[in-house]
This record gives sequence, structure tokens and C-alpha cells, in this order.
Amino acid sequence: MIVWTVANQKGGVGKTTTTVTLGGILAERGKRVLLIDTDPHASLTYYFGIDSEELDNSVFDLFVKRNSMNKEQLLQMLCPTSIDNMDILPATMALATLDRRMGNQGGMGLVLKKAINMLEDEYDYALIDCPPVLGVLMVNALAACERILVPVQTEFLALKGLERMMRTLFLMAKSQKKHYKYTIVPTMFDKRTRASLEAYKELKKVYGDDVWSSVIPVDTKFRDASLEQLVPSMYAPKSRGVFAYNSLLTFVSELDD
Ligand SMILES: Nc1ncnc2c1ncn2[C@@H]1O[C@H](COP(=O)(O)OP(=O)(O)O)[C@@H](O)[C@H]1O
Ligand SMILES: [Mg+2]
Repeated sequence: MIVWTVANQKGGVGKTTTTVTLGGILAERGKRVLLIDTDPHASLTYYFGIDSEELDNSVFDLFVKRNSMNKEQLLQMLCPTSIDNMDILPATMALATLDRRMGNQGGMGLVLKKAINMLEDEYDYALIDCPPVLGVLMVNALAACERILVPVQTEFLALKGLERMMRTLFLMAKSQKKHYKYTIVPTMFDKRTRASLEAYKELKKVYGDDVWSSVIPVDTKFRDASLEQLVPSMYAPKSRGVFAYNSLLTFVSELDD
């Protein structure tokens, strides 16, 4: 199974959209995809019309039952999405209390990785959507993946947020003794605005080849797709946003070949 984490400590940069769109494209290509929502806001979970308040189980239970959870129980926690071959391990609000309730207990850093390992035979890809805060959940998501995608809105304020995320990656790599592979993905690029162009240039200047050589454009189809609870590649297969995510997928897949 290939595991990617979509992370940035800044909110509203396109993490959830990236997760949903890449997952949808992979599922349409016949891959078995598991989406994992680790954000207490549960945007990814709500995306598919799943009311996170009504759920009996969520990512939260992985942590509570971390010493007893078996594969059977784990499979029961998964929910189907609006597209075949793609399921979601949902989030609930309870996740917001995780750091306070269990943050300093031992053995918390690899809970998600262990769960994903149990599902090795069930899926080809797992995509983890992160909350915009550094805590137990992001630490787990980083430890569980082979590659990190860092969406960054192409505007100056977002570049500041990126510096923080890069520092986090550096510190986490040190403490987990793990070499992280990551790709910075410029999002919501509006070629008509100077702000977008300047921000992209700055990104390239500072982060060089760690930045994907293309961009995800601003595309209102993403919001429309989420209103319809459909993955963008089903809702608007010919949109330029979906086209861009297809290129991103090809780019990242070739990096890891
Ligand atoms: N490329 C894009 N063009 C236009 N709107 C987008 C794009 N990417 C995301 N959005 C919209 O921006 C908002 C925030 O995106 P989201 O993926 O939820 O960010 P995050 O998960 O980082 O908080 C959502 O309403 C989403 O539909
Ligand atoms: Mg999100």
C-alpha cells in the first residue's frame, strides 16, 4: 500500500480538496483507496455526507483502543464514499480532545501506522488528511506515510505558514529518525493576479525542486463538487482543476517509482 499524508499547519490551503481529488482520481483508475480523516473539523468526513456526530466509531477509537483493536473491528469503522473502491476512516469532534486526554501517554506516535498496516491487503493507497495543528494526530500522520504533500495557497501569508510547516517537518524527521519525502503543491493559483505569480516565484526561489513544477489553479468546480458530495473527477472530469490534479498524480507517482 502506498501511503501519502496531506499536511500543512495552515488552514484553508487545499488539504482536504487535495485528498478528495487525488483519492477520486485513483479510485477511478481502479485503485482501492482509503481516505483517513484526522481533522477534528471532519471536513473530509462531511464531504461525503457522513454526519460525524452520528458515528459510533472514528479515528479517535484507534487511539482509545490502541492495545486491543483487531482488523475486524477496524474494518467495521470504515464508511463507504460516493465512489466505488474508495472508503473513509472518519473523524469526529472527539479528536479535538486527543492531545489533552492522551497526548503524554507513551506509545501514541505509531497508532495510525499500525492501523494502516492491518489494512495492507485491502487497499492500494491510503491518503491521510491532516488537521492544521501540530499534535498527536499530525505526528501520527507523518510517521505513517511515505510521502507528504504540502499544499500551499499561492499568496504571501501562506508562505509564512509554510515556513512553520517546514520547520515542523525538520524537527519531526529528527525525532522520528525518518527521512521525509515531500512535495510542495502550489494551490488556488490565479494567473491573472500578481499576488499569485509573485508567491509562486518566491516558492520556487526558496524551495526549488521541492516545489511541484506546475500549479493547481483556482477552480470553482471544487466547491460545487463538494456541495454535491461528489469527488471532483466525477463531478467535473474535464475541469482544469481535475486536469491539474491528474498531472500532480503522475508527477508524484514517477518520483516514487
Ligand atoms: N484550487 C481551488 N480553487 C478554488 N477553490 C478551492 C481550491 N482548492 C480548495 N478550494 C476551496 O477552498 C476552501 C478550503 O479548501 P480545503 O481543501 O478545505 O482546505 P484545508 O483542508 O487546507 O483547510 C474550500 O471551500 C475548497 O472548496
Ligand atoms: Mg481540511
